[in-house]
Amino acid sequence: MKLKYTICSLFAAIFYLQSVSAQSAMINVYGRNTTLLNGKWQTIIDPFDSGIGWRGIYKDTKPTGKNDFLEYSFDDDNTLNVPGDFNSQMPELKWYESTVWYKKTFTCTPDESHRLFIHFGAANYIADVFLNGKKLGRHEGGFTPFQFEITNLVKPGENAVLLRVNSARVKNGIPGFGFDWFNYGGITRDVHLIKTVKLFIQDYKIQLDTADKTKITGYVKLSDNKAAPVVISIPGLKINEKITTDDKGYAVVNFKRDIQLWTPEDPKLYDVRLSLENENITDRIGFRTIKTRGTQILLNGQPIFFRGVNIHEEIPQRAARAYSEADAKQLMGWAKELGCNFVRLVHYPHSEYEIKQAEEKGLLVWEEIPVYQGIDFPDSAVRGKAELMLREVINRDKNRCNVILWSVANETGPSQDRDRTLVSLAKTAKALDPTRLVTAAFNNVSFHDGKMELKDSVMRYVDVIGVNEYMGWYTDWPGQADKVEWISKLNKPLVMSEFGGESVYNNKIDTAVKASAWSETYVENIYNSQIKMFKTIPFLQGVCPWVLVDFKSPVRMQQTFQKGWNRKGLLSDKGEKKKAWFVMKAYYDELKNKTLVN
Ligand code: GCU
Repeated sequence: MKLKYTICSLFAAIFYLQSVSAQSAMINVYGRNTTLLNGKWQTIIDPFDSGIGWRGIYKDTKPTGKNDFLEYSFDDDNTLNVPGDFNSQMPELKWYESTVWYKKTFTCTPDESHRLFIHFGAANYIADVFLNGKKLGRHEGGFTPFQFEITNLVKPGENAVLLRVNSARVKNGIPGFGFDWFNYGGITRDVHLIKTVKLFIQDYKIQLDTADKTKITGYVKLSDNKAAPVVISIPGLKINEKITTDDKGYAVVNFKRDIQLWTPEDPKLYDVRLSLENENITDRIGFRTIKTRGTQILLNGQPIFFRGVNIHEEIPQRAARAYSEADAKQLMGWAKELGCNFVRLVHYPHSEYEIKQAEEKGLLVWEEIPVYQGIDFPDSAVRGKAELMLREVINRDKNRCNVILWSVANETGPSQDRDRTLVSLAKTAKALDPTRLVTAAFNNVSFHDGKMELKDSVMRYVDVIGVNEYMGWYTDWPGQADKVEWISKLNKPLVMSEFGGESVYNNKIDTAVKASAWSETYVENIYNSQIKMFKTIPFLQGVCPWVLVDFKSPVRMQQTFQKGWNRKGLLSDKGEKKKAWFVMKAYYDELKNKTLVN
């Protein structure tokens, strides 16, 4: 047995090494010809992760001879819902951070005139994908889409797709070992079969020119290096134009029109259709410009102040990863009710449903990759992993006009390796998408001579500086709140990207004098003081309270008040409005009624 086990482990290692990485996903899966594979998937819980190696679950073989037997099986009695994290679906999986195997059968009749892809909205954290026993490849990263072409692998009749999804935290992962949110594992977003014509529209960007508000620019890229006619129609702008790709399958988009610009107050979206041969892709696209001018942020050339809120991708009433359009409607609906024009979607790319709900509701978006706190920057694989995640989210959301900030990090401590990585990520974001701003959230503001100075070594490489500060909660006020002086020599806009404190809704111990009571009044005072301070910072262009709603976190272990939840929500996990909610609501109402600054 020992020798067999050793040989099997060797094969397992080679097997891992053979893993090809997933293709970058084609954009706008929801506007294409697809079949949803959502629903109940057969599953096997594999805590020792033996299925990828010597146990060979990926082969999914069946006993044949009299003496044959297999010590694993997929069957209809053991299923999980997809999409959806596995932790919240079975009590025995509540704290689980290892492998779950998923299986789904589907029938199809392959035909010569179409191609077939399988597309995953997200799977946390590593996914190995197999079709009919053949390995398709691997994707690492819990929050970005990936796909595989299966045109030549599907067979007439029944096909079986298998996934090994392992949610174990890894030292050189993105995020790393430690983070302040629940590590929901599994196939956490929609799964689609995408059927395309042979030569199809793989990618496109259709946005407003950064220098001319009457010019729509971008490109169309086909799946193959071929010249072909593509018709772009935007009826609301009386556009119905044929453009022809070059021999690389690439064509520039360039239209001049009088365009109604997207704004938070009037989030205008235009119906867009792209047609190639007899295939149509539909989208809804808004047009706006976003840039900075000194310490101001300009939306469509006008200074704007962000009335924001931080949102995790968690639906509190299910204590689970949010994944549906209804979940997105609830979370973005709360942000609108608070009076927001801006949301910071923390600390990882959220679902397309959330981005689109925000776009429809007039909410600008800060999107972030999970380069969060303790990242193993010296590890040579880390920068590549972070770059890939950045590319994947920019690729997916580049046509969402409400996304205005790509954030490359949250609260990472200065070091040579960290600086090199963040500067490289900031440059990559700029190179991939010059139409949006780059930011990061920093928590190492330098306090000296009674002043708070923006001094992190990476701040000069981003367009907008995010600062997380918890004065009144983790640190005491360095003096009277409206007397705290903030200084910056960077001539860049500042967004207060996190601030707040913890309280339990309707906590009977209602005191203003000690944090350890988790009292609402204590936090209400923090918010009132923060707002007094905001009004003294001339280069402040936005605020984002931490956090919209209480959220689950394994590092919040105070048994009377936290019970595994981070209680900094303006809303309780039941959606009840705490006192702090009303402080922020009043502040945002005041800002809305004024013309501009805070
Ligand atoms: C940090 C961090 C958050 C965390 C918050 C807190 O600033 O960015 O992810 O949840 O503080 O301590 O509650």
